[in-house]
Amino acid sequence: MSAEQAGVRHFLTDLDLAPEELQQVLRLAEFVKQDPYALRPLRGPQTAAVFFDKTSTRTRFSFAAGITALGGAPLVVNPGEAQLGHKESIADTARVLDRMVSLIIWRTYAQTGLEEMAEFSGVPVINALSDDYHPCQLLADLLTVQEHLGATAGRSMAYLGDAANNMANSYLLAGVNAGMDVRIAGPAGYLPAQEIVDAARERAQQTGGRVTVTTDPAEALRDADVVATDTWISMGQEEEKEHRLQLFGDYRVDAAAMRQASDSAIVLHCLPAYRGVEIAAEVIDGPQSVVWDEAENRLHAQKALMIWLLTESGLADESTAAQVGSILGDRES
Ligand code: CP
Ligand code: NVA
Repeated sequence: MSAEQAGVRHFLTDLDLAPEELQQVLRLAEFVKQDPYALRPLRGPQTAAVFFDKTSTRTRFSFAAGITALGGAPLVVNPGEAQLGHKESIADTARVLDRMVSLIIWRTYAQTGLEEMAEFSGVPVINALSDDYHPCQLLADLLTVQEHLGATAGRSMAYLGDAANNMANSYLLAGVNAGMDVRIAGPAGYLPAQEIVDAARERAQQTGGRVTVTTDPAEALRDADVVATDTWISMGQEEEKEHRLQLFGDYRVDAAAMRQASDSAIVLHCLPAYRGVEIAAEVIDGPQSVVWDEAENRLHAQKALMIWLLTESGLADESTAAQVGSILGDRES
């Protein structure tokens, strides 16, 4: 297959799913959570390549377990183990891999690397976290919001902390894609790039979502239904640790912050978490925290995503395509 391969769907940013497509993935996620082994588009077993240029626990295990449950075999490649990025171009890697594997999943640094992989791959490429986005995490987060609050549309979500990182970008984009009122708060200089905010506002016009970007944590938190945060020191920023620990102190999710949110607010954190830094132990370990459900939902949401991408790309077997059509109820089966 080649770059000209038409119709292959990839998931590189949160906006790669149209709003109605995001809802389909979330519906499939609910289904696979109830019936984990009913859909097996990777049976054979077919292989899925899972590359890590950065460390991981949740993403590694949820993809490995999810690929296995879909009937396939994960091949997990750790940092530095492949020629990719060192001795061989991304394009050449893609040209070889798509003759052998059914999916390419990649945690890396630059978003442009993922774009190049997708350009040259005839199988779906999935962003398992880049410097700019963590869209798989947001599928799990939205599923968690839906489970705990009944819906995503119309619910408000405050994100506090490093508002220029991959999680902030993904909360903004995926949140509005699901029709949420998203409030992002961080210090000046650490807010989402203007192009991300513009893209979020444009998508919000289609979904009824709302966008607020502010330096005032109180503005973001006011009666929020969801309160989210993330580490202040993302992978690759370790040398800035001391500086960053000083920067974000006003944006900590602690009991005082939670008093400003809705009494029934839920708390999200993608994990790993640093108690006493970006989030107080009493919050992450308290009754409003749903972070363990959120972590589990990585498995269900990514299984749904893989099934959906294979089906939409015309790469799923007939029986899987028919099952997906029947679950979503809006396709011919
Ligand atoms: N949330 C998340 O992606 O966790 P890992 O870095 O452990 O994969
Ligand atoms: N912003 C964090 C997310 C970790 C899952 C990082 O990139 O390290």
